[in-house]
Amino acid sequence: MAVKILGLCGSPRKGATESVLREALQEAATLPGIETELVTLRGKKVQPCTGCNYCKSHKTRCNVQDDMQALFNTFVAADAFLVASPVYVMGPTPQLAAFFSRLRPIHHVFPGALRNKVGGAIAVGGTRNGGQEVTVNTIINYLLTRGLVVVGGEIGGYAGGKVWSQDRVEGAGEDNIGMETVRGLARRVAELALLLQAGKEAGAAGVQGNQQ
Ligand SMILES: Cc1cc2nc3c(=O)[nH]c(=O)nc-3n(C[C@H](O)[C@H](O)[C@H](O)COP(=O)(O)O)c2cc1C
Repeated sequence: MAVKILGLCGSPRKGATESVLREALQEAATLPGIETELVTLRGKKVQPCTGCNYCKSHKTRCNVQDDMQALFNTFVAADAFLVASPVYVMGPTPQLAAFFSRLRPIHHVFPGALRNKVGGAIAVGGTRNGGQEVTVNTIINYLLTRGLVVVGGEIGGYAGGKVWSQDRVEGAGEDNIGMETVRGLARRVAELALLLQAGKEAGAAGVQGNQQ
């Protein structure tokens, strides 16, 4: 069975981050068995969580009606994730923060929905050391709070992908060292997603075998 990696772009623009994420997904798709889809928050209406506790007290989905309902379903259906954000004031965009806050029903209503799924983080900043590292770390914390298994990119890109765009789409492509951290991360996410899938299939086969 194919393994689906969802690339989530937290930029409100069709800019450097989306182009970096596209390249990451292309790299991941070089591994056999990987399918990819890019989902952007650009143009989407996702209000931040207001802490009304409706999901928690009613044990149901969020009752705020906007684009999050469809995004929630798409996100939960994927097997693995590459989450990318531009650096905004040394952190992820408010759009991405709003998205992850609205995944709160996973915690209270659908616990385990993202368990044993893998994710990695990518940050694209206009300045060389403009907060890519703290942005990657914050995205990692977003992923951890939603129960995902986080991987980094190993040597050179320990925590994740970090790119210096010089505020230009082409600038991101020119940052060869940064792009290598993105490609390395994409390969690690793909590898681990395939291993987890194989493990899940083997586990399911074992359960069936025991029942016969
Ligand atoms: C509101 C805002 C805040 C920003 N803050 C930072 C920052 O703290 N550090 C940085 O390196 N770049 C910062 N930038 C620049 C963007 O991270 C950079 O231009 C990035 O490539 C934009 O990605 P995009 O083309 O996908 O929108 C900021 C840009 C905006 C609009």
